[in-house]
Amino acid sequence: MSIFFKFFSWLFLFTLFGLRAEAYLDRLAEYDQQTCSEVLQTAELPELWNYFLEGQANLYFDQEAEWLSQKNGWAKAQNILELGSGNGAYLSRLSETFKEKIFLGIEKQASFVEQCKAQFGRSRLTFVEGDAESDYEQYKNQFDAVLYRLTLQHLKNPKLSLELAHQYLKKDGYVFIIDSYDPVKISSHKIRSFEEATRQHNERNRATLKGNRRVTIEILEDLQYGSSSLSNLYEVVHTSLDVQGHRLEKGIRFESEQDRKRYFNHALLFLSILNKGYEVPVDLSEAYSELQVYLEDEKSWICPGMHLLVLKKI
Ligand SMILES: C[S@@+](CC[C@H](N)C(=O)[O-])C[C@H]1O[C@@H](n2cnc3c(N)ncnc32)[C@H](O)[C@@H]1O
Repeated sequence: MSIFFKFFSWLFLFTLFGLRAEAYLDRLAEYDQQTCSEVLQTAELPELWNYFLEGQANLYFDQEAEWLSQKNGWAKAQNILELGSGNGAYLSRLSETFKEKIFLGIEKQASFVEQCKAQFGRSRLTFVEGDAESDYEQYKNQFDAVLYRLTLQHLKNPKLSLELAHQYLKKDGYVFIIDSYDPVKISSHKIRSFEEATRQHNERNRATLKGNRRVTIEILEDLQYGSSSLSNLYEVVHTSLDVQGHRLEKGIRFESEQDRKRYFNHALLFLSILNKGYEVPVDLSEAYSELQVYLEDEKSWICPGMHLLVLKKI
């Protein structure tokens, strides 16, 4: 009897802590401030990235997928290439939603590619290790659409990548760009700790030439004023912002209880990544307290600063 009791107690504890270890980083809103900070501080960076990308895919997915499905170029695209597919969480959801399409994700980080193959690989969804800024002969004239989701801002030479994407596209193909543009982010409540950390991170990135979070506006300028070689390759068929960076449409907005919870989680993961991965000073306890408003006030909302841009191959 006591052996059975011990066994079941052990099984119970194993299940409880096993599940927690698996699930805790996407349930930060359920923890008190101290536990939440401890959980984030003890998590390893790859684990933070994984939960962050998955959470980000889930948070934005429905609104982005609706936007994509309304675009002609997307509706008729059969073969789609994503450059910078990360841990595949987003591409996998696209593939589940647009079942008739065939997706290929190219990603620079080998560990992500291995994980994607094991977790999501199937007949209409494949992943390969590769560089969005390298020239691949085998992809030329193969795709109806090339997608950059939150990737263009990380590239050293985004214009080179767009030149290569032009070659990978078939005649009349499209490029879909979904990227962040911070100046159009608005929300019901300011989160001071979040804004300060993001500001410091962007400043460092600019100083060290690591990525550029206004790259989509620069591309739009180039295309509209014909000021670079890209204007011989693409025309703009849709943009959610004008060249001054002003909104032309309502855009993505989080206001449901589920989205506000997801945003709470997303913001804390993002701050932890800035802290662990980029040495940006962050006070997680302060951020936790400030972000509470998105859990408590049902009238609170966030419009993340996003730029949705569609280019057509000339
Ligand atoms: C913010 S993540 C976005 C991932 C995915 N698109 C998503 O929406 O979840 C950016 C990804 O781009 C990848 N990346 C950065 N530079 C790259 C390059 N030159 N070629 C391919 N992937 C690249 C990074 O490794 C990272 O996984």
